[in-house]
Amino acid sequence: MEFLGNEQHKIINGDSLKVLKDFVDDNSIDLIFIDPPYNIGKNFNGHKDKWDKDEDYLEWCYEWLQLCVKKLKKSGSLYVMTSTQFMPFFDIFLRDKINILSRIVWYYDSSGVQAKKYYGSMYEPILFCVKDANNYTFNSNVILVEAKTGAKRKLIDYRKNPPQVYNSEKVPGNVWEYPRVRYRMEEYENHPTQKPIALLERIIKASSNEGDIILDPFAGAFTTAYVAQKLHRKSISIELQEDYIKIGLRRLGLSDTYKGEKLERELKTYELQKTNTDQFKLFETNYGTYFHEKNQRNSAKTL
Ligand SMILES: C[S@@+](CC[C@H](N)C(=O)[O-])C[C@H]1O[C@@H](n2cnc3c(N)ncnc32)[C@H](O)[C@@H]1O
Repeated sequence: MEFLGNEQHKIINGDSLKVLKDFVDDNSIDLIFIDPPYNIGKNFNGHKDKWDKDEDYLEWCYEWLQLCVKKLKKSGSLYVMTSTQFMPFFDIFLRDKINILSRIVWYYDSSGVQAKKYYGSMYEPILFCVKDANNYTFNSNVILVEAKTGAKRKLIDYRKNPPQVYNSEKVPGNVWEYPRVRYRMEEYENHPTQKPIALLERIIKASSNEGDIILDPFAGAFTTAYVAQKLHRKSISIELQEDYIKIGLRRLGLSDTYKGEKLERELKTYELQKTNTDQFKLFETNYGTYFHEKNQRNSAKTL
C-alpha cells in the first residue's frame, strides 16, 4: 500500500476494502462515488473483472457497500454504479441501510458493440442515495437543464392568472444522456471504463459544496478526483493498479514523475502520425533548401 498525492487530494495505491477499513474514518465523507468492476469480464490492465460465481462478486460488493455507508457523514450522499444485471441486487441490499432517492439511467448512443439477436445495452444504472433524507446537500440551482416546453416550444400555461410561459429550465430527471468517453476526445485516458467528466460534474455540483471531501474507492482514470479538484472539493481516491495511479498523479498535476518514471500523457495514434508528418515536412524543407543551395553553388561554379 502506498500513500500519494497531498492533503487536498489523497491517492492510495491499494485494495479498497483494506483502505476503507483501516484508513478512512467513519462518518467523515461528504460524497462517495463508487464505480466498481462490473463482473462482466472487462480487462483492467491484465486483471480480469470476472468472478467465478456471481455470489462471490455480490458478497465482495456488499462488504464495501456496507463500509461506504459507514464512512459517510450523516448529511452525506452516495452514488453507486454497476452493470444492469447486478444493480437489482445492490438496490435490494441497500434499501434498509440508506435512503435511495433516485434510480438514474445514464444513457448513451453507442455505435460500438451492436447486438444482432437481442437488444444491445445502451445504458448504465446509477443509484443516488443519502444517509438522512431530511438533511443532505442538493444544489439543484447549479445543475438546471433546458425545459423544452418553455424554452423551445414556448408554450403558455393558461391555467395561471395572468397566463405565463412555462419555465425554461428544470432540475434534470433520472435519464441522463452523456456520450461515453471516446478515443478522440480530449479527456480520454488509457482506461477501459473511464467515466465522462460531464457525468461527474453533475454529481459533484449537485451533491457537494466547495471544501467537501469526496471519496472514490475505485478511482480508475481518476475522473472523480479530477472534477473534484476543478470544483474546489477535496478527494480521496483508492486504486489497485499502479498504471492507473500514474494517470491520477498526472491528471491532477500532483507529480511529474513516479518512481523515477516521467509521467506524460500517451500520444494518440493520430497525434503520432501528425508528429511524423511534421518531421517529414521539415525533412522535405531542409532537403529542398539543401538542393537549392547546392544548385546555386553549382551554378556559381559554372559561371
Ligand atoms: C470501473 S473502473 C473505475 C473507472 C473510473 N470511475 C473512471 O472514471 O476512470 C474500476 C477500477 O477499480 C479498480 N479496482 C478493482 N479492484 C479494486 C480493489 N480491490 N481496490 C481498488 N481498486 C480496484 C480497477 O483497477 C479499475 O481501475
